Amino acid sequence: ESDILSKLPLKGKKLLLTAGPTYEAIDPVRFIGNHSSGKMGFEIAKVAAKLGAEVYLVAGPSHQKVSHSLIHRIDVTSAQEMYDACHQYYKEVDIAILSAAVADYRPKNVADQKIKKKDTSLVIELEPTQDILKSLGIAKKNQFLVGFALETNDEVSNAKKKIESKNLDVIVLNSLRDKGAGFAGDTNKITIIDASFKETVYDLKSKSEVAVDIINEIITRISN
Ligand code: CTP
Ligand code: CA
Repeated sequence: ESDILSKLPLKGKKLLLTAGPTYEAIDPVRFIGNHSSGKMGFEIAKVAAKLGAEVYLVAGPSHQKVSHSLIHRIDVTSAQEMYDACHQYYKEVDIAILSAAVADYRPKNVADQKIKKKDTSLVIELEPTQDILKSLGIAKKNQFLVGFALETNDEVSNAKKKIESKNLDVIVLNSLRDKGAGFAGDTNKITIIDASFKETVYDLKSKSEVAVDIINEIITRISN
């Protein structure tokens, strides 16, 4: 008799999600960015909303589209704007999944005018952005906190370090070494590692199927 209910396992839950890249301004017409499409995060938003969650989707610049009454899209550009938006919603959510490819550095000074071309080389000094995920780990009360990790070497051990340094419940490791996995494409190959370092390796799949796997891993862990 709980059949109908069990089809909406996330009903009443609130989810904060980040997706896409961030753009860090150099001058009024230029920025430092990356090739993240935002697709993985948007697919997670769709799966979670389908299962009844109310989703706050904080999105960096992305061509992805989504339309669902339970998905509230908050568009941001820079790491700082993403940080501010995340902290605005974090206190009221049950789950936070940070899939965005946030810039680690931004120009220390943003020129007010377009930088003119010269014959000499140009040096742009960069300063670190704030680590949004780490800040949510520090502020964590009862939220189930999920991070992503993008690694090219010592993948699993680096991902485990991130679980500890950012106070995570689960990390989703993107295996970039596998053909067809990653940033801009439509498929992904992931390993999910939890706080007790239990590892689950998944096959290469479409990002919408990967989103289902990620949400299922979370549901299993929050419902017992
Ligand atoms: N992240 C974040 N804010 C940042 C940088 C990263 O919230 N300023 C989040 C990402 O969304 C991801 C996780 O932290 O969920 C890990 O990102 P990743 O780039 O793999 O790790 P970093 O901690 O930035 O370390 P490094 O890039 O040196 O591997
Ligand atoms: Ca990084």
